[in-house]
Amino acid sequence: MNTNACLYQDLTKVLVTREEIAEAVRALGRQITQDYAGKEPVLICILKGASVFFTDLIREIDLPITTEFMAISSYGGGTKSSGIVKIVKDLDRDISGRDVLIVEDIVDSGRTLAHLSQVLATRKAASINIATLLDKPARRVVPLEVKYHCFNIPDAFVVGYGLDYDEKYRNLPDIGVLAPKIYGGES
Ligand code: IMP
Ligand code: MG
Repeated sequence: MNTNACLYQDLTKVLVTREEIAEAVRALGRQITQDYAGKEPVLICILKGASVFFTDLIREIDLPITTEFMAISSYGGGTKSSGIVKIVKDLDRDISGRDVLIVEDIVDSGRTLAHLSQVLATRKAASINIATLLDKPARRVVPLEVKYHCFNIPDAFVVGYGLDYDEKYRNLPDIGVLAPKIYGGES
């Protein structure tokens, strides 16, 4: 029995189930634990989309990490990237000398993270890497090195597990393809 049953009506299909997500997040946590052994990385959650992924991921990492939260706007209410990236909430602490892992929900055109990586690079971090839950490599317009991803997905607009359309559907436990009729797109 699905919770949030009313939200599932707006999906054409479930793309990634909660079980698949949990397994991939566990595996990624193990990988990060290995790769950063002996270090104390700072994980930066990119609000709001990455919030659900972030809270699950940090509990799968067996290292003395610290957390930061940053909000960036690139999309407005639509489904296509505007290319305009704005820092809405900046970090609370200095990251100079720190190993930084940016945690994002989805990389699409790559514009948001390319811009953010540039901004953070000026702050003298020891290293900067990216971990994303979802990657849409077919949609990339800006070159970007994504060190970790849980799932490569096709070019479709997806919601759930933190990802929204017009601020809704973040509370879906699974990731699904949003029916184009919801956003006035082509079916
Ligand atoms: P980019 O700058 O084009 O890489 O866009 C990245 C941002 O766009 C993500 O952080 C999401 O907030 C949003 N985004 C891109 N694709 C989707 C999608 O399929 N569903 C929901 N949000 C998306
Ligand atoms: Mg986002």
